[in-house]
Amino acid sequence: MPYYLGIDVGTTGSKALLVDERGRVVASHTTEYPLYTPRVGWTEQNPEDWWSATVKSIRAVLEKSGVKPEEVEGVGLTGQMHGLVMLDRERRVIRPAILWNDQRTGEEAEYINAKLGDRIIEITGNIAHTGFTAPKLLWVKRHEPANFERMWKFMLPKDYVGFRLTGEVKTDVNDASGTSLFDVKNRRWSLELVEELSVPAEALPDVLESPEVRGEVTAEASGETGLRKGTPVVAGAGDQGAAGVGAGVVEEGIVSVNIGTSGVVFTHSDVYRYDPKGRLHAFCHAVPGAWHLMGVMLSAGGSLRWFRDKLGQLERGLADLIGVDPYDLLCREAEQAPPGSEGLIFLPYLAGERTPHADPYARGVFFGLSLKHGRAHMVRAVLEGVCYGLRDSLELMLALGLKVREVRVLGGGARSLLWRKILADVFGADVYTMEVDEGSSFGAAILASVGTKAYATVRDAVRSMVRTRDVVKHDPANHELYSRYYALYRDLYPALKNLYRRLAELV
Ligand code: XUL
Repeated sequence: MPYYLGIDVGTTGSKALLVDERGRVVASHTTEYPLYTPRVGWTEQNPEDWWSATVKSIRAVLEKSGVKPEEVEGVGLTGQMHGLVMLDRERRVIRPAILWNDQRTGEEAEYINAKLGDRIIEITGNIAHTGFTAPKLLWVKRHEPANFERMWKFMLPKDYVGFRLTGEVKTDVNDASGTSLFDVKNRRWSLELVEELSVPAEALPDVLESPEVRGEVTAEASGETGLRKGTPVVAGAGDQGAAGVGAGVVEEGIVSVNIGTSGVVFTHSDVYRYDPKGRLHAFCHAVPGAWHLMGVMLSAGGSLRWFRDKLGQLERGLADLIGVDPYDLLCREAEQAPPGSEGLIFLPYLAGERTPHADPYARGVFFGLSLKHGRAHMVRAVLEGVCYGLRDSLELMLALGLKVREVRVLGGGARSLLWRKILADVFGADVYTMEVDEGSSFGAAILASVGTKAYATVRDAVRSMVRTRDVVKHDPANHELYSRYYALYRDLYPALKNLYRRLAELV
């Protein structure tokens, strides 16, 4: 029986997921590694840690499943995006990798956006964000010129694991889209940007479509991982692109919503479209010849976790006593309040925001508190406020001419029936859960099945490997009510924008 291995080089650990050709999960294993913060706002990891964790995870899934190495037909890679890994001519790592959530490059990102203006959005589909790769390259050039001089190639996190597996230095169009150096429309490096930003063109890795084979497992990597020498490894995709494939978002009309700490709204586009203000991310999709759009809100599940941790002592204590999940108790409480929380609106900007308001100063708000409001209203307002924030991303997609036929919800937030119901009503669309909710690693395994020709296209593979589980229908009357609340929600941020700045000066 053929099996496919997806490897997700995440921020907390490296996960290996083994699936069969019908998309059934056979085994999964995650090995964690440290994240270093040498200074406030800096985040780094050691690429060698990614490799040794990946080796352990691969060995663990082979052992747990009893699948023989010759039954693993292909390997797919995915991982945290935007991180900078630099190699010298001897193929050695020059310095620790600088990660996607590192904040040191504010000045460099600003410089790129000011120098290139609208051109950066036209070419890359995005503004240059602090977390993206080009600002990191400029930072190293300015602060560590000797390291920059030594650079032979740079690559993204999962591509380092790809390099250790195959000896090849390659990346894929989806992950390359998050570098601020990629011509997203034409699916190739932008020589214009490389020149404007003085990045050596020789340092760019070769770029492939996501299901294309990047190389084969070398004898050395085979010895370490237990995989068969010669096993094909496909290019893969960034974590969000791969998660989109895993959720079956490979045609227009399907939107996935991932409610983890952050909230991601993701959709497929058959043509290159981008938000002219750069508020949504526009990237090449892991589906050859297609693109995807994505909005990222920073505190989705994070908002409910905040409530549980800071205000939910009661629920935590009780949950402990009766052996249930405190989130279940919070959601049961929220059910006591009606849709709209009787005029209470929560703004979920607890950690600033990314889409649609790229604003580090924004903060959370309960708006409309009155004497009649209690805990039930407050929890429900948190669930609703997160859905209004997610709708902001959806609205930007609709404004670009995209349609929404079906919403698929993933992540921890998908476990709450109430939250799914609120999402369906706020979006005015039916909300499905997925049979496999393994995120990016599942998508990477699917890409491996396409690259090794088990399926002709990503869409064919998805048809056979990805299945929805259940559905929550939306209620048109509630949608109408929520749309009126949403109109008010939308007006709150602009009214507060300047006040957030003043608040920041006080604390
Ligand atoms: C995508 C993004 C995150 C990181 C880390 O733009 O910033 O998904 O890839 O998970």
